[in-house]
Amino acid sequence: MAEARAIGSLPVANVQELAAAFNRSDNQVPERYLVKEASTDGELVGVVSGEDSSLEIPVIDLAKLLDPRSSEAEFAKLGSGCHDWGFFQLINHGVPYEVAGNLMNDVAEFFKQPLEARKACSQQPGSLEGYGQSVVVSEDQKLDWGDMLYLQVQPAASRDLRFWPTHPASFGCSVDVYSSATAKLSCRLLEFMAKAVGAKPASLLGVFEGQPVGMRVNYYPPCWQADQVIGLSPHTDGGGLTLLRQKNDDVQGLQINKDGKWFAVDILDGAFVVNVGDALEVLSNGKFKSEEHRAVIHPNKERISVAMFHFPCQGCWALCRSSWRKVKKCGIDQRVTRISLCNILQQNLMEGKHVERMKLE
Ligand code: OGA
Ligand code: NI
Repeated sequence: MAEARAIGSLPVANVQELAAAFNRSDNQVPERYLVKEASTDGELVGVVSGEDSSLEIPVIDLAKLLDPRSSEAEFAKLGSGCHDWGFFQLINHGVPYEVAGNLMNDVAEFFKQPLEARKACSQQPGSLEGYGQSVVVSEDQKLDWGDMLYLQVQPAASRDLRFWPTHPASFGCSVDVYSSATAKLSCRLLEFMAKAVGAKPASLLGVFEGQPVGMRVNYYPPCWQADQVIGLSPHTDGGGLTLLRQKNDDVQGLQINKDGKWFAVDILDGAFVVNVGDALEVLSNGKFKSEEHRAVIHPNKERISVAMFHFPCQGCWALCRSSWRKVKKCGIDQRVTRISLCNILQQNLMEGKHVERMKLE
């Protein structure tokens, strides 16, 4: 009988501690963290970095999008950003600088504590939340050079406070204010995005408004072998819309895969990086792309980022997820399958096998 795998992650070493030890020496970092890509002549090569920095994700100005005199051009940029890149940077978004600043400071404070104190928030078997590493499912799996803290932050009633830092004391309040602001902002964006796929502006609101928000705090310590480790392995975000901020704008890390190449993102000070997740790709009937991305490591600077995942309503989420599982099992080319997945969803919509609120018309 197949053994049911518990949700959550196998416990592995704390990377912040590993980094502190290895960066003081010139010892090779443990094998499990070395990302090796076999080249044609059988040599092992490290991580490839952004190759064509002349191409950059669009920068959308929310104030211009809202201003009738400039909205048309900005709206076209938004549509092509979601379609061509699945990513854009958002400026003049109306979220006060200190709202993000307060959260970033509290998060940095958490990581400054000794390991024992941080461990109070550790992941536990059976839960996806807490402090540790993202999905580790086998003993020989390659590991990311980064720690993370994942929390379900909205709705407030769903919070599992076992995993919430109690130091600094302002942490909960900072998360509250910040997550309310990003949820509101994502609803504003989703109205424009619905319009960009030819649906009624309010249609996506019905799917996302008041729905769960997850917060993933990423801590990427420096690594003297930065070109041979990866901070966060290539992935797509499962949910609807992700809004990401990083603590300092003086260190790059995020990279996006476009047409088989990795592009480094130079995140503007105070900007959000917004990206389309799998569920939104499906809901947009493939018009928007949930693009693969990853985070790379700096040789001597740490990097902290906070990603807010805005999920669609339960029924929609379940449908997208079950379709995805089918895809992964078959091992068919993802891009092709994602398009046909949209057809599956379309079919479900037509046959009435859907949650009423999922309809885009
Ligand atoms: C994520 C993510 C990228 C980054 O948390 O899902 O893609 O730059 N993070 O930290
Ligand atoms: Ni991501």
